[in-house]
Amino acid sequence: MPVGSSPNRAKQTSCNTLPMDVFECICTRPAIRSFRPDPLPAEVVNKILEAGRQAHSQRNRQPWRFIVIQDRDTLKQIGALAPTGPYIADAPLAIALVMEGVKNPQLDAARAAECLMLAAWGEGVGSCWVGGLDRPQVKALLGIPEAAELITVIPFGYPTAAEASKKKVRKRRTHIAFRERYGEPYR
Ligand SMILES: Cc1cc2nc3c(=O)[nH]c(=O)nc-3n(C[C@H](O)[C@H](O)[C@H](O)COP(=O)(O)O)c2cc1C
Repeated sequence: MPVGSSPNRAKQTSCNTLPMDVFECICTRPAIRSFRPDPLPAEVVNKILEAGRQAHSQRNRQPWRFIVIQDRDTLKQIGALAPTGPYIADAPLAIALVMEGVKNPQLDAARAAECLMLAAWGEGVGSCWVGGLDRPQVKALLGIPEAAELITVIPFGYPTAAEASKKKVRKRRTHIAFRERYGEPYR
């Protein structure tokens, strides 16, 4: 392989153009399960993938593989194989998050997924982690190697108006943040 052509030195794209403030993006992003049919522009898809590529991983192994799925029939088949995410069938796009070559992929996978989903929301694109999948069947459908782990299939799309205005419900800070010792509320 020629010098400079390793996968780690792939052409960079700009990372400093997210239009939404990071904090605002985190605070406003709900799980989106209902999508408008509009397709995602290629530059938006590229930006989402770039955000995933930039995620942090243990020992910088970058064990993620992202399968971008836009074929309507494939989306429908995955929706039928996802008891907790049948709405994948109606999304304009989904990304299957696959991990390869690591023993404990969950932490790295979650970080990559969050990068994908936050970058998407920064572009007005909603998404939702779908964990309830018939993994063997989805793996066969997508040609995922036996040894690789399918973590989630995440549908992406512009949210319907009702979904976009959903209120997030979260525990109060005093329940989850402590001062100095466990159980002492941070006020
Ligand atoms: C690890 C994980 C697994 C999830 N699995 C599913 C799922 O299978 N189906 C689904 O509809 N949502 C799933 N979700 C989405 C959560 O239900 C959602 O993030 C949570 O209810 C908060 O939603 P909100 O931000 O709209 O309040 C999952 C989220 C995470 C982080």
